[in-house]
Amino acid sequence: MQTPSKSGYEINPEAIFKKSVLKIKGYQSPPQSHVKAKLNQNENPFDVPLEVKAMLADRIVRLAWNRYPVNESPALRKKLADWHHVHPRQILLGNGSNQLLQTILSATVNDGDKICWSSPTFSLFSLFSALYNAVPVDILQTSDLRFPYETFIAGVEKHQPRVTLLCSPNNPTGSEIDLDFLRTLCNAASGLVFWDEAYAEFTDQTAVELLHQYSNLVISRTFSKAFSLAGLRFGYLIANKPVIEQLEKVNLPYNVNIITEAVVSELLDCRDILFERVNQIIEQRQWMYEKLCRIPKLKVYRSKANFILFKCQHARSVFQTLKKHGILVRDVSSYPLLDNHLRVNVGSPEENEYFLDILQTIR
Ligand SMILES: Cc1ncc(COP(=O)(O)O)c(C=O)c1O
Repeated sequence: MQTPSKSGYEINPEAIFKKSVLKIKGYQSPPQSHVKAKLNQNENPFDVPLEVKAMLADRIVRLAWNRYPVNESPALRKKLADWHHVHPRQILLGNGSNQLLQTILSATVNDGDKICWSSPTFSLFSLFSALYNAVPVDILQTSDLRFPYETFIAGVEKHQPRVTLLCSPNNPTGSEIDLDFLRTLCNAASGLVFWDEAYAEFTDQTAVELLHQYSNLVISRTFSKAFSLAGLRFGYLIANKPVIEQLEKVNLPYNVNIITEAVVSELLDCRDILFERVNQIIEQRQWMYEKLCRIPKLKVYRSKANFILFKCQHARSVFQTLKKHGILVRDVSSYPLLDNHLRVNVGSPEENEYFLDILQTIR
């Protein structure tokens, strides 16, 4: 029997948990408290319009909450498929795109398999790699944060990773990876190529067309950014049918709840309104970029996403000073190559102005 101790119930972790779990730190969730300017999680500053929420509230009340969703949501898959000009059986739905990445890795990676990516990039890639006991093949970007096209292909040819993980536009650098490179990569890789398009709506590039040619490509999209839906959790994959068929076996049944399903379906119908706001974010991104470039001693990177990366002299103290003023940004200094770098996402015009005003005063 377990006995309570001062610190709660003691366990012997080694006897219970996998080594790979004990070894990792877990996802480090940034602060979520209400502040004057919350610019640290790449969220959309604009909530779903109130009229849309009000209309949905009525529909949601009339749904049968006691019933399971129709498995694999055929109607929603069809809507997404029509939007992307693919077949509904090329779509797989998830409780956020992170959950779908986990599905992919559970379906593909055995202990000791290789997973390849290029740091600095999305922190979950290395975390999941450790969790699944994979051998990481991290082909670093150049010191000025350009994607290492040639060395990456050479690395994939040499190691033949089970999965290659890429993100375009890339978090946290904001840069895009070339689609011609992706073609070469899909030819060179015998394993899956996971292409995370979480920020695709903020640029004009998508790899969906490439699915006609490459059967090992899997594209991931989310409603957490452009669609203002981080709180409801929804993401989806687009790939060819043979890949989706295998992943369906691993994805948990009923992983998208009926409320999320109804909201996503409605948002797809009114995406013109949402995309007008995406355009505003893109305009603000340009405005912020220019303003940041005028601040002495900052190195600012161009971005195709809804955030901007910059280097300053003392990132930790800049981060703390901003925080004291109620501004949350993301300190990414611990990422490879990103010593003294901060990432700020584009907020509302008021938040952006406030952030820049305060940043300018910090010496
Ligand atoms: C590259 C990338 N992929 C996926 C996600 C998370 O997506 P979701 O909220 O759909 O799990 C993020 C979130 O910041 C991200 O930066």
